[in-house]
Amino acid sequence: MKVLVVGSGGREHAIIKKIKENKNVETIYAYPGNGGMKDDAVLVSGSATDIEGVVSFAKANKVDYVVVTPDDPLVLGMVDALEKESIPCFGPKKNAAIIEGSKVFSKNLMKKYGIPTAAYEVFDDVNKALAYVETCPIPTVVKADGLALGKGVVIAMSREEAKEAVISAMSNHQFGASGDHIVIEEFLEGPEVSVLSFTDGKTLKPMVSSMDHKRALDNDEGLNTGGMGTIAPNPYYTEEVAKECMEKIFLPTIEAMNKEGRTFKGCLYFGLMITKDGPKVIEYNCRFGDPEAQVVLPLLESDLLTIMMATTNGTLDKTEVKWSDKSACCVIMASKGYPTHYEKGYEITCEEDVKNDIYFAGAKLDGDKLLTNGGRVLGVTSVGECLKCAIKASYEKVNKIHFDNSFYRHDIGARALKAKERD
Ligand code: AMP
Ligand code: GLY
Repeated sequence: MKVLVVGSGGREHAIIKKIKENKNVETIYAYPGNGGMKDDAVLVSGSATDIEGVVSFAKANKVDYVVVTPDDPLVLGMVDALEKESIPCFGPKKNAAIIEGSKVFSKNLMKKYGIPTAAYEVFDDVNKALAYVETCPIPTVVKADGLALGKGVVIAMSREEAKEAVISAMSNHQFGASGDHIVIEEFLEGPEVSVLSFTDGKTLKPMVSSMDHKRALDNDEGLNTGGMGTIAPNPYYTEEVAKECMEKIFLPTIEAMNKEGRTFKGCLYFGLMITKDGPKVIEYNCRFGDPEAQVVLPLLESDLLTIMMATTNGTLDKTEVKWSDKSACCVIMASKGYPTHYEKGYEITCEEDVKNDIYFAGAKLDGDKLLTNGGRVLGVTSVGECLKCAIKASYEKVNKIHFDNSFYRHDIGARALKAKERD
């Protein structure tokens, strides 16, 4: 089989490595991938949002299955375009990817179907939004409606901050058209849990839960990033919480999407907060998380490609999805200055014994050298008998990977370990 994976990050590298375990796969194309993937995939130059480019490459090369990984091509309708050409693929169609593409859509969906989430108001008029901010409870949360590279959310600790966020999204167009509509919502408190799931629109099978670390610096300080590290499973996701999530959130969401004529197939990601009133949805994503995929997929014991194809064919109920009971930890090594300004072009070297555990993101080839080429450069994952062992192993591996101007968080998994100790 020939498989094409659209995207270029560490998440895509984790998917590629896992798909490679399937004996029927002869070639994996990464469109466009990155230089760090060269031993695992054939790199195809192009852009992950070039729908026509992906469709014509898949046709010309007789690709059997396409995995559309990032949010933007999904929201733009890449799956619809592939299906039109009868090319089987993984991911939701445009009318279902809107669950991530528009926060106004997802909040209204949750309200209509009684799915627990933060209370909210929607605005398309800057003056009305500013008037609301004069009286709403503080802290409050201001969210741009559309995709904003993970930067469209401001937790405002004061009215001034909330006003600034409203003005920069709606009047200064900081996120372009994504900020024409905004959601202002209740500030929730509690530990966060990410639960990714496979679904064919009828059956939903959750993956192992995980915990992201979004802030750039230790102790959850610094700016929000795409994610600086992950652990799985998440100790806050107890069996009791899992049951409640399945009954009140996961299945109702699938049913709601069906009722709206927007059947969701692929990976549906639930960003949850475990509040004192129970689990609530912070956000939906229409795809695997990054770096959640880098800890979740190494714990998958069943064949990933078979499961993905079952979501396409509607046979997920008959397909085994088995998880290891071990733990995993991924530490992201980034370029100093990320998520704002950073330099690129430094050589990446590593000791031989850690090569297989690295998922490259911002890396490019220069002859036979690998150079840094982005904010998040790579993630290094370990699987261990216990969470503590996985964390320790990942930090030992970090010491065997080098590039100038690198930085990473030293406390990935620390909060989860403390929570486990309290058990
Ligand atoms: P999002 O891009 O929607 O995942 O939001 C980024 C981060 O902002 C989340 O991971 C949360 O830590 C935080 N956040 C989003 N919405 C809320 C909320 N209603 N209350 C508290 N924190 C939130
Ligand atoms: N790590 C969070 C996300 O992928 O959205």
